[in-house]
Amino acid sequence: MSDIYDFIIRLRAIRDYTADPLSTEDLEAILEAARWTGSSKNRQDWSFVVITDPDRLQGLAEHGDFTQPIRDSKTTVVLVQEEGGNMFDIGRAAQNIMLAAKAIGVASCPITLHRDHDAREFLGAPNETIVRYAVALGYPTEDARPAMFGGRKGAQSVIKQDRY
Ligand SMILES: Cc1cc2nc3c(=O)[nH]c(=O)nc-3n(C[C@H](O)[C@H](O)[C@H](O)COP(=O)(O)O)c2cc1C
Repeated sequence: MSDIYDFIIRLRAIRDYTADPLSTEDLEAILEAARWTGSSKNRQDWSFVVITDPDRLQGLAEHGDFTQPIRDSKTTVVLVQEEGGNMFDIGRAAQNIMLAAKAIGVASCPITLHRDHDAREFLGAPNETIVRYAVALGYPTEDARPAMFGGRKGAQSVIKQDRY
């Protein structure tokens, strides 16, 4: 198998970040990967809100139940689903953010904003948008490890042939 294959299947959520802010270059590279994600009918019904202000990061973290990675990050990207958009596209963009980040040495963790209406208000996004997911970003600490890695269900239990 290729190195790229290995790189993809070894992508993990990492929650331990150094105190260093993301460089402008790294952040731009990650956002470029988000922007180039494929979407349904190429509609690109999304906005990416970059949060770096420390108070804003703490404030955003109030709107989900497992948001410590946002609190610990120096940069979090909130994925805003615009009116008419769909969650599949948002998921693809989030995965591209994570893979691109990893490719340039940046760790990441997807985050659920459980109180998405509050999150929307917090961002000042329009009523028609959905503000449900974010990705926390940061340079990994030396001993950063995936915290919740519990392996995966076996292939027999999730892969089915021709019929469910
Ligand atoms: C849609 C989605 C939402 C997630 N929300 C959170 C979250 O709110 N907080 C968190 O710490 N991790 C969150 N995660 C990370 C998962 O816990 C993690 O991906 C899972 O435990 C598997 O670990 P791994 O990605 O390191 O293999 C989320 C992941 C996904 C895909």
